[in-house]
Amino acid sequence: MSRAERILLGVNIDHAATLRQARYRGNHESIHAEPSPLTFAQEALAGGADGITIHLREDRRHIQEEDVYAIAKLAGVRLNLEMACTAEMVAFAHKLKPAAVCLVPESREEITTEGGLDVVKHFRRVEETVNSLKQAGCEVSLFIEANTKQIEAALSTSAPVVELHTGAFANAWKTPEADKEFERLRNGCEKANQLGLIVNAGHGINYDNIKKIITLPHLHELNIGHTIVARALLVGARQAVSEMKANLNQTQ
Ligand code: PXP
Repeated sequence: MSRAERILLGVNIDHAATLRQARYRGNHESIHAEPSPLTFAQEALAGGADGITIHLREDRRHIQEEDVYAIAKLAGVRLNLEMACTAEMVAFAHKLKPAAVCLVPESREEITTEGGLDVVKHFRRVEETVNSLKQAGCEVSLFIEANTKQIEAALSTSAPVVELHTGAFANAWKTPEADKEFERLRNGCEKANQLGLIVNAGHGINYDNIKKIITLPHLHELNIGHTIVARALLVGARQAVSEMKANLNQTQ
């Protein structure tokens, strides 16, 4: 896998399912259940999404297994499954064989103080999970902080990709802390690239801070969810995605 010429957009559609679950929890298969994450994914693809990202959480708070299977069948979709490093999820990924898997923390103790997966602390388990998923043919990324120790640990697991956590930067946006957080991300991108890792990023990116995010070096793909789903309520998913794509393509 090599870095794309332009920054790719992975659209995270979890919150389309969050809205459905707000009314149809325990009854998501009802013929009345709406909105449909599948239709949202189709519209996102029509709007130019390069991939669809979904997080099947242990508590099934938004996306359900049926959603994953239905979206995986969409013609031409490049599915990125976010999942925890658990035996249940590894078995699920082996059955589904998505193009990409991003390993994320779900329980408090797996999270670094800043917010990403603590690969240093859980090295053995993450390494085993990476190897198992690579055998299933998935391209594996690790959702980590832009921190040298975590990036080096990610490389040692043999994961080819890291997704750097942009949440702290997004929270600091328009405050005096933003420059410091941006520098941390910039250094993380440089370090990961130097080590030969593909660099993705995500969390808390919106239509405003994207203008700064795209100036980060070596970006391959951005995974963006909440802001696109929120914008879609006003202009529709297709338009919301195409507007975000226009923002990404300003680097070209
Ligand atoms: N990347 C990862 C690994 C995520 O878990 C999420 C969802 O929290 C996102 C990206 C997208 O974040 P947001 O919904 O804030 O755009």
